[in-house]
Amino acid sequence: MYDFKPAEPLAPEDVHRDLLSAADALTSGEPDGVANMANVAALLWEFLPDLNWAGFYRVAPAKDGGADELVLGPFVGRPACIRIPFGRGVCGAAAESRATQLVADVHAFPGHIACDAASASELVVPVLRDGAVIAVIDLDSPSPARFGEADAAGIEALAALLSNRI
Ligand code: SME
Repeated sequence: MYDFKPAEPLAPEDVHRDLLSAADALTSGEPDGVANMANVAALLWEFLPDLNWAGFYRVAPAKDGGADELVLGPFVGRPACIRIPFGRGVCGAAAESRATQLVADVHAFPGHIACDAASASELVVPVLRDGAVIAVIDLDSPSPARFGEADAAGIEALAALLSNRI
């Protein structure tokens, strides 16, 4: 058992600094990507307030062996869509563009996939290895405009840390 939860409310930058440090400590030296994604999903849930979903989609082949798509990975939250084609929804947009998607109002995002009707805002950050996307980190919140630039920067640093650990 690990107890990394901060004792008192912190500024977003401080929360992300501590989250990154905890993620580094938990995944350092562990080669199993599923274990590392599972622990990081749990850390995201513990550190970041006001979430209703936190986890990973991995890039993997389609069921018929066709083009790669996003496939559900370790997460905390309600059961979610299993497969998302590149370009679809917020996660698919992040995977296709290899760029962070900071969405204040998911209902205004074309093609948003409503896995949980409670979701109001979303942050999706691609995890890149050698320039190619290998996964995305997806955070959902029931509050509109929950995520800001500090969150985007913090999750991008986390994605960089995990590039060779998942
Ligand atoms: N809302 C996401 C789908 C994933 S769930 O939120 C877990 C999207 O539009 O990509």
